[in-house]
Amino acid sequence: MKETTARTKPQKGSACRALRCWRFGPCIATVLFAPQVYADNKALGQYLASECTSCHQLSGASAGIPAIVGWPRDQFVAVVKSYRAKERDNEVMRTIASRLTDEEIAALAAYFEGEGK
Ligand code: HEC
Repeated sequence: MKETTARTKPQKGSACRALRCWRFGPCIATVLFAPQVYADNKALGQYLASECTSCHQLSGASAGIPAIVGWPRDQFVAVVKSYRAKERDNEVMRTIASRLTDEEIAALAAYFEGEGK
């Protein structure tokens, strides 16, 4: 009787351990690697972008108004901030950029970068 328990116990234990890994592995991976902030940013960017796309075309075509899709994020942020700081010369863009927070500019950059691909 004692022998049986001794023999089955380690087997049970290792099966449990394996199961635990299998069940919690994906959970841990999700917590560690989910681009949560990025996803939220993009959703906000998409929401804010409706104002921009009345002038800037999502197709990337530039008929008079330059295309802003597919830009690297850093560049996009720098350009919009330079309008906001009145360093770049364009009244329309200065006015629009002056209403945007840093967070909103970052969100727009995330959204428009993805749209170009
Ligand atoms: C009323 C029309 C209009 C709206 C709305 C508008 N833009 Fe613009 N945007 C322009 C024009 C015109 C230019 C070109 C200005 C220039 O020649 O410097 C421009 C330029 C830009 C540029 C620089 C492009 C380049 O190639 O240098 C960026 C980036 C930009 N806009 C982002 C935005 C974002 C982000 C929004 C929304 C928050 C937005 N724009 C909304 C008209 C608009």
